[in-house]
Amino acid sequence: MGEKDIYRHDVIVIGGGLAGLRAAVEACDCGADTAVVSKVYPLRSHSVAAQGGINAALGNSPAAKDDTWEKHAFDTIKGSVYLADQDAVEVLCREAPETVLELEHWGTVFSRNKEGRIAQRPFGGAGVPRTCYAADRTGHNLLNTLFEQANSRGIKFYNEYFVTSLVVDEEICRGCITLDLQSGKVYGFASNSLILATGGYGMIYDHSTNSLINTADGMALACNAGAQLKDMEFVQFHPTTLYGSNILISEGARGEGAYLVNSEGDRFMARFAPQANELAPRDIVARSIMKEIEAGLGFDGGYVHLDLRHLGAEKIKERLPGIRQIAMDFADLDPVEVPIPVQPGQHYSMGGIDVGIDGETGVKGLYAVGECACISVHGANRLGGNSLLDTLVFGKKVGKKACNERNGEHVSAVKDVMSREINRLQGLLNNKGEGFATLMSEMKKTMFDRFGIFRDEDSMNEGLRSLNDLGKRYKQIVVKGSGKVFNQSLVRVLELGYMLDIAEVVAVSAIERKESRGSHFRTDFPDRSDDQYLKHTLIKTDKGQKRSIDFSPVKLGLFPVKGDGY
Ligand code: FUM
Repeated sequence: MGEKDIYRHDVIVIGGGLAGLRAAVEACDCGADTAVVSKVYPLRSHSVAAQGGINAALGNSPAAKDDTWEKHAFDTIKGSVYLADQDAVEVLCREAPETVLELEHWGTVFSRNKEGRIAQRPFGGAGVPRTCYAADRTGHNLLNTLFEQANSRGIKFYNEYFVTSLVVDEEICRGCITLDLQSGKVYGFASNSLILATGGYGMIYDHSTNSLINTADGMALACNAGAQLKDMEFVQFHPTTLYGSNILISEGARGEGAYLVNSEGDRFMARFAPQANELAPRDIVARSIMKEIEAGLGFDGGYVHLDLRHLGAEKIKERLPGIRQIAMDFADLDPVEVPIPVQPGQHYSMGGIDVGIDGETGVKGLYAVGECACISVHGANRLGGNSLLDTLVFGKKVGKKACNERNGEHVSAVKDVMSREINRLQGLLNNKGEGFATLMSEMKKTMFDRFGIFRDEDSMNEGLRSLNDLGKRYKQIVVKGSGKVFNQSLVRVLELGYMLDIAEVVAVSAIERKESRGSHFRTDFPDRSDDQYLKHTLIKTDKGQKRSIDFSPVKLGLFPVKGDGY
């Protein structure tokens, strides 16, 4: 291990999805020598799978001529069940129109309306058509645009580098340690500031829309570095994922007018959300589907139908080509002719690393943005179309803030942690015990069964005991294969460690909140309790050992707290 094994940059961004790339572009434009470290080639980041769109009060649809950022903010805050911080929501919604136009000017090919303006469709929980889209491949288009922007600026990419640890010295983040997956060599990175943009943790659950790479890395790294996590009990289940594989079937389908239908041919959402119907927020639609299934009104296996047929072939092919292709490839049916079998699946984490509006964590020099962070703009339930917006609005902010950080590099601190990490990884290769597959599937099942759409104390306590047991078994986990080049077994083992850390935090947070709010629905406490729980849950782990729970007040100010009917 020598000097040449340590790379130096002013700003290091971990994660090459939308949040990471937007942050990197901004940091670079502010004059910082910026690098992106990504465990996959950036265009494979999970942002590429985002389908339905990005919200902004552009007012391009005749039905939304008088749309404003305030209306967008109101819908977001009501959808969050008043748990979102209203100062952050104001920033998100005020800056939405310029954010979408910036991406358009950079080259994103949005779908167009008859006047040639960016087309907007209705989405759940929004009063009017506000979601800008590129057919049903919005994330794909945005990510390609930002990747071009980043490359055109000469930002340095370290692709297929997996981060194993952050370097914190004198309570300042000094960089990180990585495993270069191609060579199997360990490299250090020294920086003035480091931005985590590592996405979510969907892989801790069975039945998730997330890609295999969403393994809680950034949240666990931040937690182990001394940052706190916020509102981790709020896990979003998307109502419509393809039965069998749980691939996302975009809310854009319901935005275009698709119906949800039970086994008796009834459009049941009218019973659960008489005004919004299929376009109620996701927590409500997901619970309604599950109630239909539990009442014996689903189809065998546990699903309902998403019926697009009345939209007609032309509209389906133009606006929803991606989900048509998914249905044809993975369910062997054409939604032009046959309804799509759908069921709810884990989709998004409203909680994450506790950050301020500029992405700052409690650890100096360490920032976070995107799904791994919690500002919080989504509160207890995120509205569809607000996560792409979150990545871009706050990606820009964090890039600007981080580029001005001047902590000075500490290469010696990086060297120390690097040699510890080399020993730790070698130790993992020498372990004798279980392989990762059984532990991983037990964790996923525990999370889905015990911390899913409906929760209760006894079941969650049982789930937490299982997670603690998995944590103990993990200490002796075996890496199958000692090869250096693309040792996938080693990566899975490291990822599983991150996931078990975060699964426990989700569990502890969910047990602690004894009310129902948004995506956190407890059958033993079915009501919302603003008196006791209009507050954020904060979890901190002291040097990876002792966990403490705290609460912080929600920032109100724009809109008074009200009921949540749709
Ligand atoms: O349904 C969707 O297209 C997902 C959108 C989102 O999560 O924002």
